[in-house]
Parts: sequence; structure tokens; C-alpha cells
Amino acid sequence: MMKGRNNAMKTLILNGSPRRNGDTVSLLNILKDGLDSEVTQIDAYYADIAPCNDCRACRIHDGCVVDDDMSQIYRLLPDADNIVIASPIYYSEITGRLLEVFSRLQVYYSARFFRGEKIVFKPKKGAVILVGGGDGSGERADETSRCILMHMGCKSYFPTVLSHNTNNIPAAEDKAAVEAVKSLAQWLSES
Ligand SMILES: Cc1cc2nc3c(=O)[nH]c(=O)nc-3n(C[C@H](O)[C@H](O)[C@H](O)COP(=O)(O)O)c2cc1C
Repeated sequence: MMKGRNNAMKTLILNGSPRRNGDTVSLLNILKDGLDSEVTQIDAYYADIAPCNDCRACRIHDGCVVDDDMSQIYRLLPDADNIVIASPIYYSEITGRLLEVFSRLQVYYSARFFRGEKIVFKPKKGAVILVGGGDGSGERADETSRCILMHMGCKSYFPTVLSHNTNNIPAAEDKAAVEAVKSLAQWLSES
């Protein structure tokens, strides 16, 4: 899904929820309402993106030999200004489906480590939005998300937005989370 406003700025959202009108999506909708940016959202559960199967072709050749929707992420990543990872917490992690998508970032590691290439991405702002029923903590999911954002070229980060009581209060009614997402939209819209 693409939404065009301030064409000078590009935001890539990676959504790890399978629920089309769930808690993650409700916060993402608030974020997008406040964003002055061109937005591309990849819905991990509905995108045609295979997991990396460690075929190792990228250790020898540029890019990934698997031809699927990941090509959209490869195309947008170098010049994107903002990356947002949004996911429900599953067993204290981001969802497995989202991790499958991120496994395809291995091409950049291979380029650097095995082929000695210098990968230069535009420095980006990164943000994490997590929702959870209320079990455990969001720490591991946050740590994973920030590690992935760093690999995608993020240099500055907004405090993670966490709505962690969705078993009782839907994220869209979690006042603190909603306010935090609105502030995040403002921060991402500033150049
Ligand atoms: C397989 C599975 C594992 C889950 N694990 C956790 C967990 O570890 N901690 C937690 O707080 N909530 C957990 N939840 C609850 C979801 O994170 C919660 O319902 C969330 O609001 C769903 O977000 P969504 O509507 O955006 O998909 C789990 C849900 C599922 C289906």
C-alpha cells in the first residue's frame, strides 16, 4: 500500500500482525494519519515473501536469487528516510512471519562480509511499535527490532511504543500508546 504526501520523505512500515483490523493495525492507522510522508506498508502475513533458505548465492552474486515481493523492500531500503517495525508480541518476540521477512536481509550481510562490498544506505530514523495481551515483557521483541533497524541503516530511534494490555484494553483505546504514536508521527515527519 502506498500513500503519497510529502514526496521528499519516504517511510517504510513493516507490519507483523496477521489481524487486518487488530491492535497493531489500529496504531499504524493513527501513525499514518499523522505522517507527512510517502508511505509504503508491507504486511508480512499477506506479502509473497519467502524466508531465506541459506542457499548462499548472495555470498557470490549481488542481490537475492529469490524473485518475490522482497524486491520492493530491497528497492526502497537504500533511500528510505524512516523505517517502522510494528508487531504483536508472540512468546515475547516479534512474530515469526516478520522474522522470516527479515531473514532476507542476509543479502546485505553477505555483500559486506563475503564480497567485501561497502553498503551505503541513507541514514534513517527508526521506530518500533509493539502490542501484547499483557504476558511477560516486550523487551526481547524490542531488542530484536532495534537490531534489525540498525542493520537497515537506522541511526536515530524514537522510544518504543508499547501497548501491553490488549487483553483488557484495545490498543486504539490505550491513551498513552495513542499519544506516543501521534508524537512518533510528528518526529518521523520532521526532516
Ligand atoms: C501465538 C501468540 C502468542 C502470543 N504471545 C504473547 C506474549 O508473549 N505476550 C503478550 O503480551 N501477548 C502475547 N500474545 C497476545 C497478542 O500479542 C495480542 O493479542 C495482540 O494484541 C495481538 O495484536 P494484533 O491484533 O495486532 O495481531 C500472543 C498471541 C498469540 C496469537
